[in-house]
Amino acid sequence: MKKISIYEVGPRDGFQNISTYIPIEKKLELIDGMVNAGIEHIQITSFVSPKAIPQMKDANDLAVFCKKKYPNLGLFALIPNLRGAENALKYGINNVSYVVSLGEKHNLANIRRTHKQSFDEFVRIKNECPELSVGLDLATAFGCPFEGKKNENQVVEFLKRYVELGLSYVCLCDTIGIADPRQVRATIKAVKQAYPDLDLQIHIHDTRNMGMVNTLAAIELGVDKIQSTLGGLGGCPYAPGASGNLATEDVVYMLNNMGYETGIDVDSLVRLSHRQMEIIPDGLFSGHLLKLPLSK
Ligand code: COA
Ligand code: ZN
Repeated sequence: MKKISIYEVGPRDGFQNISTYIPIEKKLELIDGMVNAGIEHIQITSFVSPKAIPQMKDANDLAVFCKKKYPNLGLFALIPNLRGAENALKYGINNVSYVVSLGEKHNLANIRRTHKQSFDEFVRIKNECPELSVGLDLATAFGCPFEGKKNENQVVEFLKRYVELGLSYVCLCDTIGIADPRQVRATIKAVKQAYPDLDLQIHIHDTRNMGMVNTLAAIELGVDKIQSTLGGLGGCPYAPGASGNLATEDVVYMLNNMGYETGIDVDSLVRLSHRQMEIIPDGLFSGHLLKLPLSK
């Protein structure tokens, strides 16, 4: 049966929106629970300015600890610049997601860079950190909070020079949850046609209840790497209203029942999701399974 890999991004995309600092032991407890439930790829943090995202001030320590505890796991982290790339390597993380927004205004709000500046920085990262495996998280790939809807041609055109320089993957991120299955299909078809060898991932926010249908649309077109967050914790501090990613336990429930192989135990994840709600009482959760009473 076809294997679908879950890329859990809650410790980055979820935690970054929580204004109260989550103590590092609690973050590690949740990451440990994810590993025990069978998740093999976890975006554990981001190497960003602690002034921009104070929640991530413990990135270095967290990376060192996780790398030591899970040396063979697919740990990765988000970076916005060369400084982040250097820190990732220094603290043992060899796989990073370089984040750029298709909407230039969102890029300016989030990363404080124009598209040209972001690309120039990518070139520097490729030149100065050749040992780093760099993928692209393309934020606002389906629509931007400031510029409105995007289309597949814009995605293909934007990716061109990045793909030419080499990327370990591209993740199409619906940062504000604005896509629908038709747009997801059109975008994936166009990207696959333009770059047949590109490794594609999808990352859908559930803002308009489209998380599951859009993710399934991507899977049915052959995308086998899904980014999601435990409990559907998520959002983007610079994308107003972008609350809630697709919940990992919900998508795993669907996939396991459909006969896909995820290697992940849903019951363990649901329990962990309840524990996460205790740890992060001020979180916004878009998940559904976690609303059901917990079986004893
Ligand atoms: N890690 C840690 N610190 C960093 C850093 C990094 N990757 N990049 C920059 N900094 C520090 C600088 O050293 C500087 O510190 P100082 O004020 O003590 O000297 C400060 O952050 C500002 O640096 P500067 O290069 O002027 O950046 P900026 O103010 O233009 O901000 C970013 C640009 C990209 C660093 C910042 O906007 C950022 O980290 N954004 C991340 C946003 C994010 O994670 N969004 C959610 C993910 S989609
Ligand atoms: Zn996101």
